[in-house]
Amino acid sequence: MEQTKHTFLGIDLGTSAMKLVLIDGNKNVLAQITEEYQAVQPERGFSEIDPEIWYDCMMNAMERIFKQCDRSQIRGIGVTGQMHTLAVLDEEGKSVRPALMWNDIRTKDLIPELKERIRDFPEGEYLARTISTGSPAANLYWLKENEPENFKKIKKFLIGPDYLVYRLTGHYGTDYCEASTSCLYQIKQRKWSPEMRELIGLDEEMYPEVRGSVLAAGTLKEEIAEQFSLSRQIDVLTGTGDNPATAISTGCLGRGYPVISLGTSGVFMMPVAEIRDNAKGKMILFSFDDKSYSYLIQGAVQSNGSTFDWWVRGIMEADYSEVDNLVDVEKSAGSGVLFYPHLMGEKTLYADPDIRGSFIGLSTETDRSDMLYAVIEGLCFSFRELAEKMRLPLCRFGSVKVVGGGARSRVWMQTLANVLNIRIEQMDGMIGPAFGIALLAAYHCGCFDSLEQISEGTVKIQNCFEPQPEAAAVCNRQYGKYLRIQKGLQYITEGAEE
Ligand code: XUL
Repeated sequence: MEQTKHTFLGIDLGTSAMKLVLIDGNKNVLAQITEEYQAVQPERGFSEIDPEIWYDCMMNAMERIFKQCDRSQIRGIGVTGQMHTLAVLDEEGKSVRPALMWNDIRTKDLIPELKERIRDFPEGEYLARTISTGSPAANLYWLKENEPENFKKIKKFLIGPDYLVYRLTGHYGTDYCEASTSCLYQIKQRKWSPEMRELIGLDEEMYPEVRGSVLAAGTLKEEIAEQFSLSRQIDVLTGTGDNPATAISTGCLGRGYPVISLGTSGVFMMPVAEIRDNAKGKMILFSFDDKSYSYLIQGAVQSNGSTFDWWVRGIMEADYSEVDNLVDVEKSAGSGVLFYPHLMGEKTLYADPDIRGSFIGLSTETDRSDMLYAVIEGLCFSFRELAEKMRLPLCRFGSVKVVGGGARSRVWMQTLANVLNIRIEQMDGMIGPAFGIALLAAYHCGCFDSLEQISEGTVKIQNCFEPQPEAAAVCNRQYGKYLRIQKGLQYITEGAEE
């Protein structure tokens, strides 16, 4: 097949690094590189970055990766990355100010008021449930209130990865995922919410055009093609957020099963047939082609890898590779120590940016192993709580697939199996957003016929972990106590209700 000689580039605009993956039409990875950058915190809780830094980083990374391949074969480019991050552009297409990132919590005091004000809008129940710190709607509202001079200059807004697509093609667009999670969009009606537009004071022309993720945003700008000596006919996809891109590479989106991604933040996601008003979690509307639409429900453990990193490397001064040897599971599972893992607030279940972590049940016998086990178990409990409150029908599938850095720890995987009381399938291979979006670029160029085919063969299971009945029963008892921690912490930090 002719297309298999062609190659496809996936670009993932991560929170602190950009990853590029080059694949061929047979899903082989030909090259991959990572370039790091840093967001800035001009004030406590703020998190911003100049989009020019992303652009420079992307151009450097492209130069580096093209050196490793036959650049004449590149046919498609897909961009994915951090969701929600808001770039605001003036009439010349230049950034008005640094982008406000998804993990920026400057709007925390505004959120309760905004929830109240939008609840009665059409689809207001959903908008109110979804709006949180980092939402584009909340950040735009903050700009209007706090930086009116900058707000006046805004002629377009874009979400992080869409900004790079704009720089590559000149097209101002986004996909259904980014639109539907912006809190500016009516997910059932599939249109930008006029009421939200009025509330924030935006013009219709400021909105990006929404397209199916696999459709082209445009062709690569001539000057960029020339700079890298690429073909003139390279399509750049509309693209999508990093979580749907991961869901594509794991087969979660195409084949419909639940997946946990253990990254800096942890994400539990699963496709669902319809919007359920009484379940927690963020609904992502997804469309490949503007013809058929599906929903992906997503819940996040805001501080997952960062909690693990804080304990393992920061406090224990250990290395990740040592973790499994540092825990005596048999002893520590019975120690009774509990850990609450939300070190940086919690978004999906409690919408509380101020909640913090805690160890409970320490004694003079407690040792490093007990505390490390409690950290791992606490993170697993946070995923169980998500699954329950998002009402994910896990039993129907009989297993949960796990991807990401944390999946490398056997102790973490076995504990997760015991806590969720379900088989855990630890995934192998190149799964991740950059790979997912590169696969989508290959699909765009005719390498595969369907969403199912995209993930065929990419989804390799490395190890399976079955729940151990006795250990699972102990976890279950601990989990009952874990569920009461949030209220307990609230009681301590906010005081008793009169
Ligand atoms: C998703 C979210 C994060 C970012 C991380 O809602 O906020 O997972 O997408 O890149």
